[in-house]
Amino acid sequence: MKVSIVGTGYVGLVSAACFAELGATVTCVDTDAQKINRLVYGSIPIYEPGLEAMVMRNVNDKRLVFSSNLSDGFVGQDYVVCALDTQLDSDGATDLKPIEEVAQMFGAYVNGAAIFVIKSTVPVGTAQRVRSIISDEIARRGVAVDFEIASNPDFLTEGNAIKDFMKPDRIVIGVESERGRELMFRMYRTILLRGNRQIITTDTRTAEMIKYAATSMLATRVSFMNEIANLCEIVGADVNVVRQGVGTDSRIGPKYIYPGCGYGGTLFPQDIKDLIKIAQGNDFDMEVLKAVDNVNTRQKRILFDKLSEHYGGELADKVVAVWGLSFKPETGDMSNSPAIDTLDQLLAAGCEVRVYDPVAMNTAKRRWGNVYCASNMYDAARGADAVLLVTEWRQFMLPAWDELRAVMRTPVIIDGRNVYDRREVEAEGFSYHCIGY
Ligand SMILES: NC(=O)c1ccc[n+]([C@@H]2O[C@H](COP(=O)([O-])OP(=O)(O)OC[C@H]3O[C@@H](n4cnc5c(N)ncnc54)[C@H](O)[C@@H]3O)[C@@H](O)[C@H]2O)c1
Repeated sequence: MKVSIVGTGYVGLVSAACFAELGATVTCVDTDAQKINRLVYGSIPIYEPGLEAMVMRNVNDKRLVFSSNLSDGFVGQDYVVCALDTQLDSDGATDLKPIEEVAQMFGAYVNGAAIFVIKSTVPVGTAQRVRSIISDEIARRGVAVDFEIASNPDFLTEGNAIKDFMKPDRIVIGVESERGRELMFRMYRTILLRGNRQIITTDTRTAEMIKYAATSMLATRVSFMNEIANLCEIVGADVNVVRQGVGTDSRIGPKYIYPGCGYGGTLFPQDIKDLIKIAQGNDFDMEVLKAVDNVNTRQKRILFDKLSEHYGGELADKVVAVWGLSFKPETGDMSNSPAIDTLDQLLAAGCEVRVYDPVAMNTAKRRWGNVYCASNMYDAARGADAVLLVTEWRQFMLPAWDELRAVMRTPVIIDGRNVYDRREVEAEGFSYHCIGY
């Protein structure tokens, strides 16, 4: 099976490595020639557990190749998987031009039966639009080429991407014909064989909608629980116990109800804005999602506000350590991370900021020239008047409290992920603040 992946970013590279691991011959193309060059020489641009070894293994076995010549991705392929990033344009709508250009190139180069698979998150109706662009281009060439189109949204979570690909909760496929359905079943046959996985086959519009609805539901749970946490604090309830009481209800379940300092990444914030915009374009108001977005924006201030309250608003010249910069553990991705808002707020208030993250330090160095990038968590805390925990990396879970207290100027912990035990931390001589109790 010959698979090409157009767009070798997070989704593209993980999918490419996994398809190659399952025995397919995979060609990855990307307009970013520098990225492709680095990949050719074995340098993986993202941090994702297990990915580097899988890429190297499949490059060595010649099942995985990289090219910056885009036409390599269209000629002689059985499956062309579009995994481009989707940006918002100046009106706040999804800019579909890059995907349309790729569809046009597919139409211009495709030379045998092939299926164009859209993995990017795209507005409802995009697959149908892409089909007509491809048909027009093929007609312009005056050739007869048999092609299919499929919508196959991706549900990977950064930090767990390989497992999500190999053992998905479900695979969603939107197709327009029986042949399209058969081709997509063949593509995922190996994964479906292992462990009786669910495959949901539908039309392309419904598949496109499933992706937005799933992401929005998860973001809604997070923002809802953050609101409950903030109310718990006001009325004197303990949100950690409330979360257990809620999450053990089998109708609700325990995931995505952990209170914290807000969600980030590229997925949640952009998909929610996209869906609000899609609804607006159809004269429909997504009131719940607007509230989800607003609550999250407010939540990204919470660590700064707690610090400010602790020091009575006197933050100028305070030294503040920030533990964790990525939007979640096990990724180096800082897109829309609450750490960005928190750092900007601290710097604007005149604080001296010291940061440490196990993976995202290079991004931090490029982004802020005026913060100290520490070599480890204790180095970050040296001389600090507070430690703000933003990302719950495993290595932050069990600090040596005596060592930490010894290096800090004032022992204050602001726990943005509720990972510490208040009684333990206070018994160690720290002032402790967390979310929702
Ligand atoms: N990252 C995630 O966790 C995740 C999860 C599920 C779905 N998605 C969706 O998948 C899509 C891809 O996301 P990503 O995070 O992998 O993006 P990314 O930014 O990591 O990668 C996109 C890649 O596409 C390349 N590209 C852009 N225009 C191109 C073109 N015309 N031709 C060839 N290559 C081009 C870019 O250079 C980049 O390498 C998005 O729609 C996203 O919403 C992402």
